[in-house]
Amino acid sequence: MIDRVKTTDLKVEMYIDRIDASWFKHPFFLNHFLIRSEKEIKKLIDSKIESVYVDFEKSTHLSQSGDGQAKVPFRQEIDRSKTLYEEARLQISQLMQDAKIGRQINSPQLYQLVNNIADSIFRNSQALLSLSRLKDYDQYLYNHSINVCILCLSIARELDLDPDEIMSLGTASLLHDIGLMKIPQHLLQESYSPTEQEVALIKRHPYYSADILREMEGITEETILAAQNHHEKYNGDGYPQGLSGKSIGTFGLIIRIADFYDHITSKWRSREAVLPFEAIKIILERSQTEFSALYAAKFVQCLGIYPIGTLVELNTHEIGVVVEINPQDVMRPRILLLTDPHCLPLKEKTLLNLIDPDQEIQQKEIIRPLNPKPLGIDPEEYVAQYRG
Ligand SMILES: [Fe+2]
Repeated sequence: MIDRVKTTDLKVEMYIDRIDASWFKHPFFLNHFLIRSEKEIKKLIDSKIESVYVDFEKSTHLSQSGDGQAKVPFRQEIDRSKTLYEEARLQISQLMQDAKIGRQINSPQLYQLVNNIADSIFRNSQALLSLSRLKDYDQYLYNHSINVCILCLSIARELDLDPDEIMSLGTASLLHDIGLMKIPQHLLQESYSPTEQEVALIKRHPYYSADILREMEGITEETILAAQNHHEKYNGDGYPQGLSGKSIGTFGLIIRIADFYDHITSKWRSREAVLPFEAIKIILERSQTEFSALYAAKFVQCLGIYPIGTLVELNTHEIGVVVEINPQDVMRPRILLLTDPHCLPLKEKTLLNLIDPDQEIQQKEIIRPLNPKPLGIDPEEYVAQYRG
């Protein structure tokens, strides 16, 4: 059922089906979206919009309560997220091809995609975060773009950003590397070793990304600069301008961390992928030098010290793989147990939720992460099994 509602009567988690004003005359990127905060309602009222159309069916559906901070349980979100991830991959590949031949980006379609990703993360961040573990070496750039967007919007959720800020960060993070399409593609191939001059050309890609974004309808300067600054380092050692500290901008600093994490945990050329917990360790070690300490801390708050896909040992000597973070206590995630306390493989893999109030479970804790390779374990196999 769709009905007109006065903006003063709106509530968080109502789904706006349309706003009675031209897209260019109201302060939102989209005409239909889920209200995520009181700030959005205030913005509508401040924009002198008196009423909007609310889809109550979608509103009821999206406001079902789940566990912890999540609005819906992981199981309810995961299938929708898988479809969304696939759609995003198709759209991004099309968009990258468009950028290569200089065709303008379909802005409303792109903003809708960013909004859908944000909605999923605000319903239950763990579903898309689990999918952001997907690494396809042949389609590295497509997966990387989506994964960085997922990571950035998960941080946005922690930061309680305004809706337009969420859209800016989401758009910039999704398109941060689109400028690579303007570089001769053979320079980026695995087998090719670029010369010094060619490396200098590759390092200009943030400028090219900014140029492509500048052509989009309704784009903000903040979004353009966020994409342009995604390789700047907090201490000034980055490129293309060698900016430092706050002059990089909040979104540039956030994308830098997400970009680094996704890149380093992926196989790249002859380099093997770094394990997720090792990547977190590196980010924490380099916070205040390469990364902003504030956003590095927020990042770890989202992913946990033992991110999804980490093989861990418990104080009971059981071994398992982290498959879902509990946002209310990132040190106590959900684990798919692979062995019993005597290191014997379990016939049926068992799910252990460390925030379960059961007394016996409360006494269990992670004592250390393990390197899965010497043990012949592929944690991603179990993460995929849990996703179903
Ligand atoms: Fe880049």
